[in-house]
Amino acid sequence: MSVEIIPLSPSIGAEIRGVDLSKPISSNVQQELLKAWHDNVLILFRNQSLSDKELLSSSDWIGPLGARSRPADRRQEPDPYIMLVSNIRKDGKPIGSLPDGEMWFHHDMAFVDVPHKATFLYSVEVPKTGGNTKFANMYAAYDLLPDRLKKVLEGKRVMQIFDYKETSQPDLSELENVKHAWHPAIVQHPETGRKALYVNRLMSATFEDLPHDEAKVLIAEIIPYAEDPSIIYEHIWQPGDFLVWDNRCSTHARTDFPETERRLLKRGMIEGAPLIAA
Ligand SMILES: [Fe+2]
Repeated sequence: MSVEIIPLSPSIGAEIRGVDLSKPISSNVQQELLKAWHDNVLILFRNQSLSDKELLSSSDWIGPLGARSRPADRRQEPDPYIMLVSNIRKDGKPIGSLPDGEMWFHHDMAFVDVPHKATFLYSVEVPKTGGNTKFANMYAAYDLLPDRLKKVLEGKRVMQIFDYKETSQPDLSELENVKHAWHPAIVQHPETGRKALYVNRLMSATFEDLPHDEAKVLIAEIIPYAEDPSIIYEHIWQPGDFLVWDNRCSTHARTDFPETERRLLKRGMIEGAPLIAA
């Protein structure tokens, strides 16, 4: 099997050709995929056809599956490893999670102490327009930061909060009921050794050892670097697309789409380790 690696944008992402994820992958190809994943942060395989069982073993070459964080009473899906990202409703209730419209840039699972390191998403049904996923390279975001901001963030911890809302600023007022975690604002990737920004619009709420109003100003200053158009790739989904990305060095967001269009993607994650401060 020969593997082709074709960049998707100047900053992030590559398409892999010549791999069928429903079949066992040789250890040589696994090494190639892992290298392509580390080099490109996000990799895409088109025209895949995967049963749920095949989907669950699709990213074995990155590591073991990570379980969902959402409590069983706040989710519809019975499988602890597969989330249905879908606006499809049965008896008026969404069949999955995160159903509708836009979602701001975020690091998956940043709100728990040990975030899963990778997320994969496999598309089954997609709208004719919209519902795209944008990916931002957080190594490149770190590199873009002015030296002054790099210095301010060095050694700082950021609180990441998520209450399953898709487009609103994190709220510090009810922390006891809401998932949240402290993480380094700049992380060092354990495999590549590179520094990456770990601040995002949806979940980053405040900084340690800084008055909250000053922390808010600092976050507002950082976000334009974290969402600079030069570090973003926007993925337009086709059915059968399989994407897997590294949550330690990327963020992603979803663009709006019409309510009248069906959208169904299946998501799984790969277990991570505590993040390392750069
Ligand atoms: Fe996400």
